[in-house]
Amino acid sequence: MVTLADWMRGCGLARLDAQVLVESVQSWSRATQAAHPERELDARALERLDTLASRLRSGEPMAYVLGQREFYGLALEVTPDVLIPRPDTELLVELALRHLDALPEAHVPTVLDMGTGSGAVAIAIAHARPKARIWALDASGPALAVARRNAQRLLDPHREGGALRFQQTDWWDGLRLPSAFAGFDCIISNPPYIAANDPHLPALRHEPPLALTGRHPNADGLSDLRRIVAQADCHLSDEGCLLLEHGYDQAAAVRNLLTAHGFREVFSARDLGGIERVSGGLCPRRQIDQSPPKIG
Ligand SMILES: C[S@@+](CC[C@H](N)C(=O)[O-])C[C@H]1O[C@@H](n2cnc3c(N)ncnc32)[C@H](O)[C@@H]1O
Repeated sequence: MVTLADWMRGCGLARLDAQVLVESVQSWSRATQAAHPERELDARALERLDTLASRLRSGEPMAYVLGQREFYGLALEVTPDVLIPRPDTELLVELALRHLDALPEAHVPTVLDMGTGSGAVAIAIAHARPKARIWALDASGPALAVARRNAQRLLDPHREGGALRFQQTDWWDGLRLPSAFAGFDCIISNPPYIAANDPHLPALRHEPPLALTGRHPNADGLSDLRRIVAQADCHLSDEGCLLLEHGYDQAAAVRNLLTAHGFREVFSARDLGGIERVSGGLCPRRQIDQSPPKIG
């Protein structure tokens, strides 16, 4: 007979990690575990716990071991085909929602999420603004399969008028939009932005390289951001906004990129850790004032 206390002592994990595994396998809350260390674990539970514990000990992230990560209050499925959504990325959602809230009430907002991965950002926006029409793209077919499953599980299929469509593209290449499309109110991306020689990469070895360094790992990590910015203006409505997540030391470079492409009101916003994490700007096209010049 193996009790909870026996297993906790011998599992070789930090106490909190061990408690999280027991909670996921046995559905015993941490409070219950603390109150009843004498509870017995049956052979099936023990086998499952030992398997999960060995994956954690080998360095696999908890989110992959559990197959789940919470983002913006939603429990997303995650597999090694997708980046584990980070709390910092919730800033991207907040800024997008703020921009959409400033649009006229009768307007149906349109949003493009570039590099959707697990679908985290697109699904969070669809959940918060059920009327929005959202497109989400990714180069990875397996990632899109995860995103589709998340959308099916987390979104109300009967929400009024809104829609979330997924497409496999190479950024702008292959994107299909309705013929009379007027441009997105908001384009959002958390693209790969880690430089090829970044010393943090070994610690991220369980996550897909396509999500971290992109198809063409590069010296400054900015090549995907450059591709996205280069054609964003053609896909934005006149007052549409582009919002880009980037690395802790890339804000000035991304602002320069946006300014060089004519974006207006270029800004950077800080995450909860005080780091400039998202930069953005308004569509470069200005309304041309065609009224006659005032004379005298
Ligand atoms: C940093 S992850 C972001 C995932 C998700 N949006 C999030 O915030 O958790 C970047 C995503 O971009 C996708 N990606 C990389 N290169 C791409 C490309 N050339 N075209 C489209 N998507 C690409 C990756 O597959 C990955 O899902």
